[in-house]
Amino acid sequence: MNQFLLHGGDYNPEQWLDMPEILETDIERFLEAKINTVTLGVFSWAKLEPREGDYDFEWLSGIIDRLYENGIGVILATPSGARPHWLAQKYPEVLRVNEMGMRARFGGRHNHCLTSPVYREKVRRINGRLAERFGHHPAVKMWHISNELGGSCHCGLCQEAFRRWLKDRYGTIENLNDRWCTTFWSHTYDSFEQVEAPSRLGESALMGLNLDWRRFVSDQTMDFVEEEIRAIRDAGADQPAAVNMMYRFEGLDYAKLAQKVDMVSWDSYPVWHREKEWDTARDTAFWHDVIRGLKRKPFLLMESCPSSTNWQSVSKLKKPGMLSAASLQSIAHGSEGALYFQMRQSRGASEKFHGAVIDHYGGNDTRTFREVCGVGEELNHLSELAGCATRADAAIIYDWDNIWAMKDSQGPRNKGLHYEECVDKSYRALRRLGLNVDVVDQSASLDRYRFVAAPMQYLFHPGFEERIRSFVEEGGTFVMTYWSDVVDENDRCFLGGRPFGLTDVFGLRAEEIDGLYDGEENTVIPVQALSSGSRQLANMKEQYTCRYLCELVKPLGAQILMEYGRDFYAGEPAVLCNSYGKGLACYICADTEQSFYDDLYENLVREAGIICGWNGKIPEGVEVTSRENEEYVYWFIQNYNRAEVEIEIPEGDVILGDREGILKSFGSLVIRTKKTDGKGEHKNEI
Ligand code: GAL
Ligand code: ZN
Repeated sequence: MNQFLLHGGDYNPEQWLDMPEILETDIERFLEAKINTVTLGVFSWAKLEPREGDYDFEWLSGIIDRLYENGIGVILATPSGARPHWLAQKYPEVLRVNEMGMRARFGGRHNHCLTSPVYREKVRRINGRLAERFGHHPAVKMWHISNELGGSCHCGLCQEAFRRWLKDRYGTIENLNDRWCTTFWSHTYDSFEQVEAPSRLGESALMGLNLDWRRFVSDQTMDFVEEEIRAIRDAGADQPAAVNMMYRFEGLDYAKLAQKVDMVSWDSYPVWHREKEWDTARDTAFWHDVIRGLKRKPFLLMESCPSSTNWQSVSKLKKPGMLSAASLQSIAHGSEGALYFQMRQSRGASEKFHGAVIDHYGGNDTRTFREVCGVGEELNHLSELAGCATRADAAIIYDWDNIWAMKDSQGPRNKGLHYEECVDKSYRALRRLGLNVDVVDQSASLDRYRFVAAPMQYLFHPGFEERIRSFVEEGGTFVMTYWSDVVDENDRCFLGGRPFGLTDVFGLRAEEIDGLYDGEENTVIPVQALSSGSRQLANMKEQYTCRYLCELVKPLGAQILMEYGRDFYAGEPAVLCNSYGKGLACYICADTEQSFYDDLYENLVREAGIICGWNGKIPEGVEVTSRENEEYVYWFIQNYNRAEVEIEIPEGDVILGDREGILKSFGSLVIRTKKTDGKGEHKNEI
């Protein structure tokens, strides 16, 4: 791990080789802005191998040396994100085929057949050459594998690989038929040879097939990544390898992909200044936490925009201070640095108006450049945070298989399940209490948490219910919502009542689910007749609205906290809690509004004895996040309001920002507090 936080980003000097003076000023600018890391080689293939087998690394070597002389490190990319013309011309098999059977022409990027032996071979070779040449260069700190991997190919090679993948998984065609429920509509397969990738022209209604195709695409991409990394390792390079991931990307199972690389990173392009900044900040924070949760380790903000992108529907500039707030937010949530796309704005083609550290004018007196310098200063001040961990008592389950299966199924609301909002509500309710939150998939061990929320976990992986049971048994608080534990890993409905295998833990059985029309509402209200020994929920309102989905359940011992206010199920349970073992299992039946989650979670978190170690009051629009090492906890307090706020400053050293107690709009404060026991234990843990 570095002793400092990374600052820098994507740099494409190959676009400026005929203007050496530009490259010289760039380095001056980098030094001025305290840039310590640049990413080279993303999309440089045509310059690195202009003709098949004819490698030209001289220009790259010169630049890496110059950077190194100036104390700037390099993240070196493998060039497989975009291919040169000669490759597609000579080997058309590298071009993807779509689900309609049409092969793409040359163009674009991120669009290769990842099964193609030719593509793999060409990538392996150039990676090997790059690693031989630069794998021991002291400037090269990390490998950036390809770029923003995603998408699928339906060519013959991929279809063949898919069938092999299925054979490995299911062994016999009878087993596959059983798993995919192919008797339905007489879609039974006679042999693996009949299986084709899902297509609108053909089979699209077998959910088991659709789900396995997505898994295959994900696995095939991971296999490609592994092969890329192997090529580098075989050539003797041993720097960590990373992939850059995308915001809310569902195309690959990131939780699995993360296991193939040393470090995960992502590219963050929030749409600032459209909604309240606070909303955008929480949304971004959520994805930081998803990415950190993949390995439960620090990650890297690989790309972010210093001003405005050119691909969003409106290119909104970041207002003064927002670049600092967004960069520091990533650090607060576990990033090891703040990197940009890109260092110098390209002169032509599709990204010429994308924001960059150095623009077409090229001077150091632009607003953006000055703000980048400011971030450079700030990261410098915070260098002791490098490698710090995030400790979270609360977790939210977010699982790719679940998302794939749930969104693909027909019903209970084809107009939108509002899944993302459902997850966000749990996330926001926890974050407003100042709690760090890990976002993890179903395979993560739950032992380290005390509070876990599982919003809309429609698909359950084998064994997940057992882990929930023991988590609750051991004293954890587990909250699950409607439309959970409905199907198995092949999207086959569980028989015999749901939540499957957990009706005793939750003390209820889910029976029916009502889809509500857009604009239709119901309410949840505290139960009228509190029985003796009832759980008292403080601060709960008289009623909360709910929309979209209302599940009807039959209580089997759980305590009913809230009931429906309207419709034929008025008076029936809407929120239930069941004591099980030493813990508590709660079930939310309906898509309730945010304030319901806020109030309920405040109660549950307090009952579970979880507190945020930050004792000050958290004003609206302020984000409190922490990282820690053996000795210290570092508190980030960030104001996402458009006006300044007053905050109570706790004991501790202010290492960034001032002690005045006034936090300006988009301002950040970082406070270091010493742990009292010094043993790496959270000092405020109960
Ligand atoms: C990213 C991509 C970069 C650049 C950037 C522009 O998704 O990885 O290469 O295109 O977007 O915002
Ligand atoms: Zn293919």
